[in-house]
Amino acid sequence: MIKPDAIQRSLIGELISRIERKGLKIIGLKMMKLSEEEIDQLYDIHIGKSFYLELKKFIGSGPVIAIAIQGENAVKIVRLLAGATNAPEANPGTIRGDYGANLTKNIVHTSDAPKRAEYELNILFNENEFVEYELINKTWIK
Ligand code: PPS
Repeated sequence: MIKPDAIQRSLIGELISRIERKGLKIIGLKMMKLSEEEIDQLYDIHIGKSFYLELKKFIGSGPVIAIAIQGENAVKIVRLLAGATNAPEANPGTIRGDYGANLTKNIVHTSDAPKRAEYELNILFNENEFVEYELINKTWIK
């Protein structure tokens, strides 16, 4: 998910481009302003932590872009592309290493496991918003 800081900084194209250039297959793409309830669902494991209100205010401060990616090891690959959560510690060349400001303004959210991705995608998308299709260049990227 592209976070509000990335949208304010006009990084949408750059971030989608990184996903595409890696050869990942996007099957859902959606700009939205998350409701308080959706933020609580998405970040349920952090509710009650010291930083939760700051996190919630930030995520609700503007639009986000939800991206559904399909493919073998997609969760793992996207996490590697994103880099460490705390942007100042993220490696150069990763999304957060190149663009992130800090622990809160860290440009993207990524699911940390396939089961979690399923849970989060259900919050962000309706079933009919996933698009099944073939990537015709797939033989060149495997
Ligand atoms: S932790 O410490 O294990 O709970 O962290 P993690 O699971 O990696 O993700 C924490 C998410 O909360 C956001 N956030 C913060 N984390 C820690 N400290 C502070 N102060 C803080 N502020 C915000 C952080 O950006 C992670 O969001 P996502 O969307 O998962 O990257």
